[in-house]
Amino acid sequence: MSSRQGQLFSASLMEQIKSRFHYVDHDVDGRARLFFDNAGGSFRLKAATDVFAGIDALPDCPERIHERALYLQDIQTRGEDDVRRILNAREGSVYLSLTASAAMFEMVRAVMENVPGTNAVTTILEHPSSFDAMKLYCERTGKCLRVAPSNAETGGVDVDAIVSLIDDDTALLSVMYASNISGAKLDIASIVERARARKPDLFIIVDAVQHAPHAVIDLQKTPVDGINFAPYKFFGCRGSGVTWLSPRLAELPHHRLDAKEKGAWELGSPAPAQFAVVSAIVDYVAWIGAQFSDADDRRECYVQGMQRIEEHERALLSLLLNGVGEQRGLRAMKGVQVFWDHDDLTRRDLIAGISFDGLDPTAAVRAYEARGVIVYERIATSLYSGRMLESFRLNGAVRVSPLHCHEPSDIAKFLAVTEEVASTSRVECELPESAVHSY
Ligand SMILES: Cc1ncc(COP(=O)(O)O)c(C=O)c1O
Repeated sequence: MSSRQGQLFSASLMEQIKSRFHYVDHDVDGRARLFFDNAGGSFRLKAATDVFAGIDALPDCPERIHERALYLQDIQTRGEDDVRRILNAREGSVYLSLTASAAMFEMVRAVMENVPGTNAVTTILEHPSSFDAMKLYCERTGKCLRVAPSNAETGGVDVDAIVSLIDDDTALLSVMYASNISGAKLDIASIVERARARKPDLFIIVDAVQHAPHAVIDLQKTPVDGINFAPYKFFGCRGSGVTWLSPRLAELPHHRLDAKEKGAWELGSPAPAQFAVVSAIVDYVAWIGAQFSDADDRRECYVQGMQRIEEHERALLSLLLNGVGEQRGLRAMKGVQVFWDHDDLTRRDLIAGISFDGLDPTAAVRAYEARGVIVYERIATSLYSGRMLESFRLNGAVRVSPLHCHEPSDIAKFLAVTEEVASTSRVECELPESAVHSY
């Protein structure tokens, strides 16, 4: 089930979904606010923050024989099982670290230091967590870093551009599932299949931090060696990065306590509360799935739920671009440029990149905030977005990233504010400089 323009949730389900999250319509101080920066950290599930506080309040060490310790061990086991459910992963190792970036550096290091090869392949759109890790370990191990360029039309990276860089001497391919700048999905299934056709035993690591909260991931269909996501961008809490490693990657030499089994990547005391957060995320997505399916299996319910989330978000993206009722959409708005825009919404996560004539992205973000809307500026001088924007030959963009707990009326409000910001910027453009005030 996948439609090109998506499918909105019913009004009654929408209401229940909104009620499960903190601060969807209001900020913590009670003021009305539209939070459209979910790619920088998403709305939190109430169940996730509650369970985190509840479990973290317990003083018990999980590595004991007491009843409460066994309870904490069960929470960890269930959390690990739920990581596997999110990814449809079997075997291998689950590794919770402090951040997704930390785990990415560790994975890249293990492959680069131990797998033969004279080059490694990545893309220009990678987050610094993987791009910089690849650069660092190429330098340290004397490998050549091959970087696939972006496609300015789609906002992604073409499969050919990546696969053409792989040969018998490639030690590692590191590639993201979707861009956190443009929202473009990379065709990971084709990339993995064609990369392995070139080099059957190629190690592949995937950064799923942007994409995991928006669609189903299935490692049985797309087998890779390492993949990570971040609960704080996935309706959960800050303070952990979640990684799955294939058995052969998990067993490569890495930092570990000597007495632990070979494939274990956790260093030090695990945090059961973080595992409980992962289970709260799966509970929630599976609950959405159960509204549409009679399936008993938890992975199946999760898949159904994630497909519905994807459909709803696609319908919201269509409204954002094309308008809601009488309210004009971004594509038709005077003074607004929409980047990486093309009709195949199935190839895009719910992110839009825009700019205003006569208003730089930082000033635009301030203008939005003054009107109760939170969006984010991606600018060429930023360490987190400079390389990617440069590849698109852009100086900056305003990133707009709503979430599935928004509804059409939220998109309409956002569009009305955007129109106001655009008209203000046009007036300012036409005024003498002395008359221009900034927000
Ligand atoms: C695509 C992508 N990968 C990796 C990361 C790094 O995540 P973390 O901050 O948890 O290390 C981010 C964070 O913005 C991201 O957007």
